[in-house]
Amino acid sequence: MRGPLPFLLVVPFDTSLFEQDSCLSGKFLGNYRDGSNINSVLITNEECISSWTSQTQPLSAAFAPAAQGFRQLVWIEEEAVDPSLKTVIAEDEFKQFLERLSSPPAMPFEQTFLESEQNIFIGTYQDASYEIFYQTPTAALLSVNSRVAIHLDAVLPRYWKSTPVPSFPVEYIPVPPSSVDPVKSVLANLAYDSTVATLVDGISIPQMRNDIRFLTGEDGQSGIVSRHSFSQGARVAAAWLKQRFEETGATCQLMPFMQGFAPNVICRYESVVNTTGTVIISGHYDSRGSFGSTRMPGGDDDGSGTTAVLSIARAIARNGVKFHQNVELVAFAGEEQGLYGSRAYARELRSLDANITLMIQADMLAYRKPGEPMQLGLPKSIGTSEVAQLVANISSLYSPELEVGFTSACCSDHQSFFEQGYASTQVFERAGPIADPMYHNSGDLSDREGYDFDQLKAIAKVQFATILHYAGFELHK
Ligand SMILES: *[C@@H]1O[C@H](CO)[C@@H](O)[C@H](O)[C@H]1NC(C)=O
Ligand SMILES: *[C@@H]1O[C@H](CO)[C@@H](O)[C@H](O)[C@H]1NC(C)=O
Ligand SMILES: *[C@@H]1O[C@H](CO)[C@@H](O)[C@H](O)[C@H]1NC(C)=O
Ligand SMILES: [Zn+2]
Repeated sequence: MRGPLPFLLVVPFDTSLFEQDSCLSGKFLGNYRDGSNINSVLITNEECISSWTSQTQPLSAAFAPAAQGFRQLVWIEEEAVDPSLKTVIAEDEFKQFLERLSSPPAMPFEQTFLESEQNIFIGTYQDASYEIFYQTPTAALLSVNSRVAIHLDAVLPRYWKSTPVPSFPVEYIPVPPSSVDPVKSVLANLAYDSTVATLVDGISIPQMRNDIRFLTGEDGQSGIVSRHSFSQGARVAAAWLKQRFEETGATCQLMPFMQGFAPNVICRYESVVNTTGTVIISGHYDSRGSFGSTRMPGGDDDGSGTTAVLSIARAIARNGVKFHQNVELVAFAGEEQGLYGSRAYARELRSLDANITLMIQADMLAYRKPGEPMQLGLPKSIGTSEVAQLVANISSLYSPELEVGFTSACCSDHQSFFEQGYASTQVFERAGPIADPMYHNSGDLSDREGYDFDQLKAIAKVQFATILHYAGFELHK
């Protein structure tokens, strides 16, 4: 006998949907953004839909794709960008995307994949079919060939991004009070500490300038043209980052997570007291460029976040800082294809029941729109609000020059941790949507108007001060 047919649902996010005896518990495929709304994707059956009691009604319901193994569901969305950057309306962009997606294949996928090891991938596919399950002017849920899914960034419009929807549903895992309470307690006892101030002030702008110029290839030494996840440059960057972090006393591993992708760089400083507690501070070192160009310097996105994390490592080493919790400094890959690297790592940590007490992702820190003050943006929707509040208050103590506010720019690698129930947030360069005119562009260099090393340092100080306050520390010098 056949079981009930699986249905895909898109529903406005509402925690009450997942409460105990709901037929939706254990059917969660993740939360995804559409404009200023957060939607959940669920997989369920007809029976569950016919017994629907919640006030929250599905936005769409459709039969799930057949042949699950070969088809990959992806969520695509228009990112929050400043209206001044937009020249094409979202609907037209989406139409063009579908045209590119369905253009006939020029060469078999395997061949393009091999090429992509050396170069960037801009090509077509063997199976160019797609199916749309949900669509608005600013987001869509579609299924594509699973091998096409990891290359979508090459055909998506510049201000759109894709996130793969997991193949198997899980329980919705909220961040538990036991993870939020320690954040509240650090917040309640927060006070200016002159030792912390000295440590964070020591972050070096000339060093950051050097580091970013290596990553973007602007220094003429690294040979990096692109840090696209499939590029040779990303592998050069990963090896270089590992070495630099190890020089600061960290123990690093290159963590492969999927064939073809450059690895995550995961570096750890063991706690000097006996605890499983671990604080993670991260950025993503992979980059994305404009259509048809192999140059993807990713100076701001996210060379800036990566450099900030490295600047913290260098300051740890210079001052002999030892922490009272384990501290991991991480540079993820696969972010631009849809958080692949961080998802793999966050899931691994959850499966080991790892005690990740705090996670803060830095994604795009350096661009300051001319005429605007230095800023620090915190995510409006995806993330733990108490962690954002802690970061905001620490900012006012150590980088009072930053104007702190919320941003609708959303959903970097912290989302992977947040959906595994870990307390997390993101730091961003602006209290508003993305305004960097070189976003996802070959011109995303560090040597250009608006790339502000003072703002980059000010935000790196906040990240470092947050680790020092949250993990606790002593100085061995
Ligand atoms: C954090 O900052 C907010 C807003 O600036 C302030 O009202 C609050 O008292 C601060 N909290 C702590 C614990 O310092
Ligand atoms: C660390 O703490 C755990 C759990 O309390 C204990 O089992 C272990 O023996 C301790 N290790 C050391 C080196 O003290
Ligand atoms: C996790 O680490 C924190 C910070 O060190 C500690 O207080 C807490 O007891 C740990 N939790 C577990 C379940 O070990
Ligand atoms: Zn980014």
